[in-house]
Amino acid sequence: MKLIDGKETSKVIRREIAEEVKQILKDGGKRPHLAAVLVGHDGGSESYVKGKMRACEEVGFKSSLIRYEVNVTEEELLSKVRELNEDPDIDGFIVQLPLPKHISEQKVIETIDPRKDVDGFHPQNVGRMAIGLPSFVSATPQGILELLKRYEIETEGRHCVIVGRSNIVGRPLSILMSQKGYPGNATVTVCHSRTPNIEEVCRQADILIAAIGSPGFVKEDMVKKGAIVIDVGTTRMPSTKTKSGWKLRGDVDFDNVAPKTSYITPVPGGVGPMTITSLIINTLKAAKKEIYN
Ligand code: GUN
Repeated sequence: MKLIDGKETSKVIRREIAEEVKQILKDGGKRPHLAAVLVGHDGGSESYVKGKMRACEEVGFKSSLIRYEVNVTEEELLSKVRELNEDPDIDGFIVQLPLPKHISEQKVIETIDPRKDVDGFHPQNVGRMAIGLPSFVSATPQGILELLKRYEIETEGRHCVIVGRSNIVGRPLSILMSQKGYPGNATVTVCHSRTPNIEEVCRQADILIAAIGSPGFVKEDMVKKGAIVIDVGTTRMPSTKTKSGWKLRGDVDFDNVAPKTSYITPVPGGVGPMTITSLIINTLKAAKKEIYN
């Protein structure tokens, strides 16, 4: 069994990007600039956005944080989005989700210029991704593909079983893993809450990706010997052993499953650390006009 170390991989990628930024500046180019819009004071959102701003600093990007109180109107937020769309210094930006109930997330997402949509949430990016055109791919699926690449895991002809069909993880991953190329060319099965015999389907996986948000869902008897297991779960469980009072738990019963696998991602330290790095990768692509020009 080999651990897929997302923390280390993430560090390596950030170092590579920091070097590239230095080169861009040396060549007289503009420093890449990411903006984040944060509404309210949700603890999770606060810490994610802090991590995103810190990552920018680490790689030498400029970053801007735009804050609103929870009572901001939808129109105020939309007009900020339009302003960021037009601002030539901003290469990419995100609006941290979730938003308060009185604001339509979909409307906000669809107002973002797809060329600056480094979250890859705009239907234009999702659609382009689905038909294999250059696009911004959302953070978690891209982070997983990057891990498969960096660990040189063969995907062609393999049976990839994905548990979970969410718009931000399971669904896009199912499309990407079956696409032509590498990582891809896999035979993909998507399981969800209405799948009968889910245990039996999981047992057939060469590559098993768990993304349902149910702690410890994947048990030892659901995993084929030698399988590659990717755990996307990040449920906060109460804990008396940590300063914060909680600890992260994945969708895989790691202690019992790990010995059967050839590769497995731990929680924490697997997929999680790659997500912010994916956003950094996308911001660099936006700055270099790699996707759209
Ligand atoms: N909330 C949880 N994950 C994300 C993400 O990847 N992007 C944004 N904008 N909000 C989130």
